[in-house]
Amino acid sequence: MRKIIIAGNWKMNKTIPESIELANLLKRSLYDTSEVEIVICPPFTSLSDVGEVIMDSNIKLGAQDVHWEKEGAFTGEVSCAMLKSAGCVYVIIGHSERRQYFTETNGTVNKKAKAVLKEGLRPIVCVGENLEERKKGRAFEIVKDHIVNSLSGIPNEDMLKVTIAYEPVWAIGTGVNATKDEAEEMHKYIRGLLTEMYDKELAGEVRIQYGGSVKPDNIRELISEPDVDGALVGGASLKADSFTDIVKNCL
Ligand code: PGA
Repeated sequence: MRKIIIAGNWKMNKTIPESIELANLLKRSLYDTSEVEIVICPPFTSLSDVGEVIMDSNIKLGAQDVHWEKEGAFTGEVSCAMLKSAGCVYVIIGHSERRQYFTETNGTVNKKAKAVLKEGLRPIVCVGENLEERKKGRAFEIVKDHIVNSLSGIPNEDMLKVTIAYEPVWAIGTGVNATKDEAEEMHKYIRGLLTEMYDKELAGEVRIQYGGSVKPDNIRELISEPDVDGALVGGASLKADSFTDIVKNCL
C-alpha cells in the first residue's frame, strides 16, 4: 500500500517570520492527520526555523534543491549535510522552474538524486512536459527521457526512497490542472517505465505525485486514480487553510 504524500513547495516565498507563522498554523491544523504523509518545503533561509517548529509534529521538512558535492568552493550552493542538519528529510530535485531558468538538466538531476540518497535523504524527482511538447504529441517521449536519465544508475534498494512528481509544465501556476484521466494516463506510463527499469514489485511501491494547480477542490478526484499517490502543491501551499484542506480532502 502506498501512503498518500502531500508536499508543499513554497518556492521563493515567505520570509523567516512568515515561514514560522505558516508552519505553526499547519502544525495546529494538521496534528491529527497521520494517514497522509505531509511535507513542507520552505526556502533555504527558513529551513532551520521551520524545522524547529515542526520537530515533534507529523509534518516533515523538505528543501527545494541541493548541490551534489559534499562541500567546498561552490558559492551560493547548499549541501545534503547542511539540509540534514536543518532537519530536512526530503529534497525536491529537477523542478521545472530549475530546468527552465537555472540550466538544470537530467544529468544534474541524476547527480543530485544520487547524492541525496547517499546522504540518507529522500529525493522528490520532478518530471514533466511543457505545453509545446504536449501539443506536438511528445509528452510521453519527454517524460521517458526525464525518468530514464534522471534515475539512471539508482539501485533498487535506493529507488524505494524516491518519490516521483509528475508536473506538466502547462499546469503549473496556471489554474489549469491536468484532468484526472490525463494525470492517470501519465502516472500509469511512468509506473510502466519503472517496471521496465526495475521490476513490477518495486514499481508498485514507488509513489508518484501529481503537481500543477492542485487545489482543495480537485485533489480528491486526482487521488481517486489508482496511480496518483498524492500531490506536489505550489500556490495553494502558501496559505494554511488551502494546504490543510488539500490534506484533509485526502482522508
Ligand atoms: P502550483 O505549482 O501548485 O502553483 O501549480 C506546483 C509546483 O510547481 O510544484
